[in-house]
Amino acid sequence: MAPTALICDTQPWKDLKAHVEEIKKTHLRELLTDTERCKQMLLEFDGITLDYSRQQATLGTLNKLQKLAEAAHLKDKIERMFKGEHINSTENRSVLHVALRAPRDAVVKSDGKNVVPDVWKVLDQIKDFSDKVRNGSWVGATGKPLTNVISVGIGGSFLGPLFVHTALQTDPEASKQAKGRQLRFLANVDPIDVARNITGLNPETTLVVVVSKTFTTAETMLNARTLRTWISKELGPSAVAKHMVAVSTNLMLVEKFGIDPKNAFAFWDWVGGRYSVCSAVGVMPLSLQYGFSVVEKFLNGAWSVDNHFSSAPFEKNLPVLLGLLSVWNVSFLGYPARAILPYSQALEKFAPHIQQVSMESNGKGVSIDGVPLPLETGEIDFGEPGTNGQHSFYQLIHQGRVIPCDFIGVIKSQQPVYLEGEIVNNHDELMSNFFAQPDALAYGKTHEQLLKENVPDHLIPHKTFTGNRPSISLLLSSLDAYKIGQLLAIYEHRVAVQGFIWGINSFDQWGVELGKSLATQVRKQLHASRTKKAPVQGFNSSTTTLLNKYLQESLD
Ligand code: F6P
Repeated sequence: MAPTALICDTQPWKDLKAHVEEIKKTHLRELLTDTERCKQMLLEFDGITLDYSRQQATLGTLNKLQKLAEAAHLKDKIERMFKGEHINSTENRSVLHVALRAPRDAVVKSDGKNVVPDVWKVLDQIKDFSDKVRNGSWVGATGKPLTNVISVGIGGSFLGPLFVHTALQTDPEASKQAKGRQLRFLANVDPIDVARNITGLNPETTLVVVVSKTFTTAETMLNARTLRTWISKELGPSAVAKHMVAVSTNLMLVEKFGIDPKNAFAFWDWVGGRYSVCSAVGVMPLSLQYGFSVVEKFLNGAWSVDNHFSSAPFEKNLPVLLGLLSVWNVSFLGYPARAILPYSQALEKFAPHIQQVSMESNGKGVSIDGVPLPLETGEIDFGEPGTNGQHSFYQLIHQGRVIPCDFIGVIKSQQPVYLEGEIVNNHDELMSNFFAQPDALAYGKTHEQLLKENVPDHLIPHKTFTGNRPSISLLLSSLDAYKIGQLLAIYEHRVAVQGFIWGINSFDQWGVELGKSLATQVRKQLHASRTKKAPVQGFNSSTTTLLNKYLQESLD
């Protein structure tokens, strides 16, 4: 197939470049006076309200972005994804995480085969197994119920499940189902993370779920062996069969590791690691903790957005609009970062998850055809829940660098509010900040305003806020399992839209390989030096010096 033209060579891209000057002349203060524009920049879908009126964009900009979407063949690319075409061309794979949340009677094909029955076969297995563990008909080697779960995995085999677990923990319905149970996550190979995970846990009542798509990831396999040793030492080697299960696409390696294939829960190569939370990767540990019916609601929420994404017209399509606006911010306005700011403590692990989804997907230097790109792709994602972040890094966002912000708020808190002699309750206080911050960023504070407030001259420059700093506000009606699924899918698809526009492959991750292979070289050296006193060799002088120091001093 002939290589596709680079998006930056198309007329809509050039038009948007030319449009930047015009936009830069208009302050958000002015744009926000246009109520018709504001109305048009408000979108509601299934309990979610998106307000993007605080973007440095006019309706004309939106129009131009729609033309860019046409030039990038966005519609066709989305369709090809849903049709199971091998859009992950460097790995020759379909990209079908949407099939993981499809209802039983849906048809989603990969290589001509409907994969939905396979998905549901595994979901039924998970339901059956997690029910047994939860109701005590599957017990540990000494006959005790398994009330504690350690999920061992890293990257996509960790961050998504951790985000959803953290968000469900305070949801009343989910937390009722989790009574008396614990779910922990062992991700880092650091012995400190191992200690944190096993401290206070009795192996007799602990189930270990080893989660790895490849079942080769060095950190996960070492941690899995460490926990296997912990169980064997305490309960005897035969206990492993009752205390360890696995989630993987590589069932052969699972068996080789010593986990009974009957206790292995499969997924497929058409699920990217960072898009795998809706597969057994997330469904297994979350069902053990909250019961399958709660997790099913989460999957339904994601599916509602999948349907919306594949069918809504672009001007009313949440992930499409968000993706286009991100491209506008990164590629045209030149803002390289994005802050994800949920005004909900339950979403404290959302930004770390989206960091991987977004940065591992879109941090690329070449087009999908391998042509070096004359444009930057991806963005630097970071975030913290508000209001905590306000007392940390917001200073920079208000008066330093311009960083487009995603404000995420919830109308009905997961938790009851208490009010005793206060002006507002805790949730209203939280949300007061959610509503105030976007306007503070957009409007800023002028010299004139400060003069009127009698601010001394020497402080005026310090107290001036330039404003004109873009944000979007996403207001969720509540934060239950369904909404958490929706939020996840909105961000997953937004990232895909950005990648489709930039013309890159958002579904491979070759950039993580080099570090891994160099670590293998170091690992071999450390082993040889420790066991055979082999001198450090084959590294540059800097690494050689550091390795020698490490080897010498770690033995002291
Ligand atoms: O960080 C690289 C990566 O390959 C991620 O894409 C993936 O989510 C993670 O490692 C873990 O991989 P696995 O599930 O195969 O252990």
